[in-house]
Amino acid sequence: MSSSGAKDKPELQFPFLQDEETVATLHECKTLFILRGLPGSGKSTLAQLIVDRYRDGARMVSADHYKITPGVRGDFSEQYKQLDEDLAAYCRRHLHVLVLDDTNHERERLEKLFEIADQYQYQVVLVEPKTAWRLDCAQLTEKNQWQLSVEDLKKLKPGLEKDFLPLYFGWFLTKKSSEALRKAGQAFLSELGNHKAFKKELRHFISGDEPREKIDLVTYFGKKPPGVLHCTTKFCDYGKAAGAEEYAQQDVLKKSYSKAFTMTISALFVTPKTTGARVELSEQQLLLWPSDVDKLTPTDNLPRGSRAHVTLGCAGDSEAVQTGIDLLEIVRQEKGGNRGEEVGELARGKLYSLGNGRWMLTLAKKMEVRAIFTGYYGKGKLVPTHGGQKGHAMVSCAIL
Ligand code: A2P
Repeated sequence: MSSSGAKDKPELQFPFLQDEETVATLHECKTLFILRGLPGSGKSTLAQLIVDRYRDGARMVSADHYKITPGVRGDFSEQYKQLDEDLAAYCRRHLHVLVLDDTNHERERLEKLFEIADQYQYQVVLVEPKTAWRLDCAQLTEKNQWQLSVEDLKKLKPGLEKDFLPLYFGWFLTKKSSEALRKAGQAFLSELGNHKAFKKELRHFISGDEPREKIDLVTYFGKKPPGVLHCTTKFCDYGKAAGAEEYAQQDVLKKSYSKAFTMTISALFVTPKTTGARVELSEQQLLLWPSDVDKLTPTDNLPRGSRAHVTLGCAGDSEAVQTGIDLLEIVRQEKGGNRGEEVGELARGKLYSLGNGRWMLTLAKKMEVRAIFTGYYGKGKLVPTHGGQKGHAMVSCAIL
């Protein structure tokens, strides 16, 4: 913070400014803060505070510097082209924190920014000022530096009144934590693929009659999440999913957005369709967990948080959503009294065979990973990491 008094102002209560753990965690990530708001609402003050907080690792790109005038009709495509090029140049320098200061009231413009964030593997945090006058056009006419009239401001307002919802909310692991979990996942796949108990049950992983003695599970789960790993809380489909608006409006969500968390991984699992990590949610984390996602059928009554997982890979045509379904089936089976058969000890813990090609490694020492709670706004999909399958990912496979 640049001044000690500013710290206590209610409109500056953001985890990325106030919470030491969040600040430390953001130093281990690449984050693009996208400011949104009407002219005069306090974006630039906030943008500058973020840059001051992260100092050397941070840069700001401000529409003002490109003579982009909000609310004024005109073609600013050349100016935006230059701005985007400059933003991309900062991304290529792997700076930890980039701050984009603009009104960002149009979906199309935001989509372009999400694309840049995806391309360079930056996590997005949308930031709107909390000033009392942020949507008050009469007051904003006095405050904005462009001398925009109430009418000008009213034209911009509809794009900023409603929350902009992501494809999904979730905890996004830091780069270091992602790497550690990916590594643990790969080691598990290699060990499992070579395990005699698994080799006896290969039929669940082989289609056709081709006789096989072994399969390489790392290749088998060839579709991987691009960039950093995540644990989805609510899949919002940009607001189209049932309950998305209600979820996003909760106080706990607003307070937790952009905050750092330490997550506990208790097990790794494999099914014929997916492989993932089981996440054990704390009381505080459960407050962010949607009430309707731990069911496969309306009558299921599984403990809250049963579905919490990180997708590590998918096989064939399976999509990432399948990992949560597979984990729920495992939990339902456990709850029914079938915890599977213990078939051996691997490097990180005990291996259980649950039948039907389901395998679980319970970690002797649970893994702790660090993550930021935010939204994913882009269009990225799992990317194939082997063979010639065509993915629709926005992110290049070369980075994997
Ligand atoms: P997960 O959290 O298991 O990885 P998609 O790739 O289909 O666009 O999905 C994006 C992310 O949202 C994925 O990571 C996926 O699963 C999760 N997801 C997709 N569809 C759903 C859904 N219907 N319910 C819950 N999570 C979903």
